[in-house]
Amino acid sequence: MKIAVFVSGNGTNLQALIDSVSKGTLKAEIALVVSDKENAFALKRAKDAGIETFVIDRNKFDSRESFDKEISKALDKRDIKGIILAGFMRILSEYFVRKYKNKIINIHPSLLPLFKGTSAIKDAYDSGAKKTGVTIHFVDEKLDNGPIILQETVEISKDDTKETLEEKIHKVEHKLYPKAIQLFVEGRLKIVEKKVKIEEE
Ligand code: GRF
Repeated sequence: MKIAVFVSGNGTNLQALIDSVSKGTLKAEIALVVSDKENAFALKRAKDAGIETFVIDRNKFDSRESFDKEISKALDKRDIKGIILAGFMRILSEYFVRKYKNKIINIHPSLLPLFKGTSAIKDAYDSGAKKTGVTIHFVDEKLDNGPIILQETVEISKDDTKETLEEKIHKVEHKLYPKAIQLFVEGRLKIVEKKVKIEEE
């Protein structure tokens, strides 16, 4: 299956996916890396792995929908069947989400529905919660919403700083994301009444 990974920044999750593909534990082809930032370090990771990149500047489009339509053209041209958001800092239009219904997956650094938004790690840390985690979910029209595929808890210990918590969360992300995408590629994720059912092998 051909998948596209959408990025805006560092791309450590993209790297984890690239590494899983080369190890053979993720049986997919990362056929395209889409970035809305031309200086994203993730683009270097893609180039080093020989993956085609597509950089698109939101400022050149007058609406979210026209921006998404341009991305959609690039995806369809390459026959992309799965869209993997890995630190992509843009909200997708309803048009895009509907067009690729149940084909867009996101990773979020908290146990959703807790701590939605862009400062989830800091918010969990500041809240005094003893646990947070990682969520991988299908994307729907609402922010950090949609059927949950996998979740894993991360303890917040008294010795943690925001930085050590961040490290622990990323470590879990890098392990969990390839696993979730492999389940998707195998066609084992079924959505029944807005819940994800993982089919046995
Ligand atoms: C991750 O923490 C992910 O959960 C969030 O954005 C971050 C991306 O990090 N959506 P990276 O660019 O993959 O290093």
